[in-house]
Amino acid sequence: MSWFSRLEGQLKVEDVLLSSVAEKYGTPCYVYSRSGCETGYNEYKKALEWCPGGGRVCYAVKANSNLSILSLLADLGSGFEIVSVGELERVLAAGGEGQKVVFCGVCKEEHEIRRALEVEIFCFNVESEKELELIQKVAESMKKVAPISLRVNPDIDPRTHPYISTGLKENKFGIESKKAVLVYQKAAALPNVKIIGIACHIGSQILTMEPLLEAFDCIMGLVQELKDLGITINHIDIGGGLGVQYSNDENPPSPSEYLSRIKSKLLEKSRDIPDIIVQPGRSIVAEAGVLLTRVNFIKETSNKSFAVIDASMTDLLRPSLYGAYHKIEPVDYDENKTEIECDVVGPVCESGDFIGKKRRLRIIDGDLIVVYGAGAYGHCMSSNYNSRNRPAEVLVDGNKMKLVRRRETIRDQLQLELTEFNSQ
Ligand code: LLP
Repeated sequence: MSWFSRLEGQLKVEDVLLSSVAEKYGTPCYVYSRSGCETGYNEYKKALEWCPGGGRVCYAVKANSNLSILSLLADLGSGFEIVSVGELERVLAAGGEGQKVVFCGVCKEEHEIRRALEVEIFCFNVESEKELELIQKVAESMKKVAPISLRVNPDIDPRTHPYISTGLKENKFGIESKKAVLVYQKAAALPNVKIIGIACHIGSQILTMEPLLEAFDCIMGLVQELKDLGITINHIDIGGGLGVQYSNDENPPSPSEYLSRIKSKLLEKSRDIPDIIVQPGRSIVAEAGVLLTRVNFIKETSNKSFAVIDASMTDLLRPSLYGAYHKIEPVDYDENKTEIECDVVGPVCESGDFIGKKRRLRIIDGDLIVVYGAGAYGHCMSSNYNSRNRPAEVLVDGNKMKLVRRRETIRDQLQLELTEFNSQ
């Protein structure tokens, strides 16, 4: 994480002191490094250079859908993986190209399919026969042909948190691998869909390569079976899922390690190599962002200490939802402050409202702290629970900082609602 460093104990992102971000925009606040995001993307792009078709990086918009993040990735040439028409509109608003979009998700609704066909997206990753029929119907009504892949569920355990595993038979995602060939045959007979690829995504925050490679073997087997039946697959979409290092005992493989294994597997099998698509979210943006928050005060009880901060589960849900670990540090590291052990908690009325447990920190009332690894699945999972305003987002580029989403106000929240049944 070279974009975060200390200058005489003071934490900086690129060339900007985090204390100056807090001074200018207040807390809680998400702060992202532009070069962090770019590095994340470029690693994948480089790791795919060997692909005959050049490979495609389709950034998973759900990880961080701020328009400025999408726009900087679009400028680098990134494609996008979306799961809703809302995400599609974000990509387009940010200057992304519709033709570089892959549409995933278990249920794409009719209006979403229509919009995606209008902007001529690259591919629909189909997750059920019913969805295939709906895509055929909508495409026919628009006199268009929809490019499709089937998302296959290979029934492989990604060895991650159960809530973010997606490739097991008990998960709702994809088409069972043993039924995939039949569904492909059915798709091949439909006049308004065109088979272009095959897809798989088995989960997120995956820390070992084995399950990913096992899934790839399953997909390669299917590609061969389909070839024997005269169905050509132009690309394999291997999904996202590579983990990041939230704590020192997590050692995820790098994109280049992972993709060089994929390359060897493909070369072993045939000369006729399909193009590779990846859909990473977390591994591009997680480490490029922090949540900057202030310790309102330290609350001591006879049992333990709590650092009560101005951020909460409504700003960063991962610790509460998955028991996820995020490293926490003071912005100003001061040896002279006594280290305390505390639970870092928010003001929300839930005992599950914590950002960290049993952390040893040199902090006192009023100090700023940062929560690392917050660039992915941070702001985008925030909520208004307890009528809290969503935090601001700031993007840093060298010595410049820019507010890329203003802090919500209570007015923003109230204007969506009525005070009485009959009012307009
Ligand atoms: N492609 C598909 C079809 C996906 O469902 C996902 C993530 C991705 C790509 C991107 O996966 P990544 O590279 O980011 O692991 N909220 C959870 C993560 C949910 C991931 C859902 N799908 C968390 O905070 O850990």
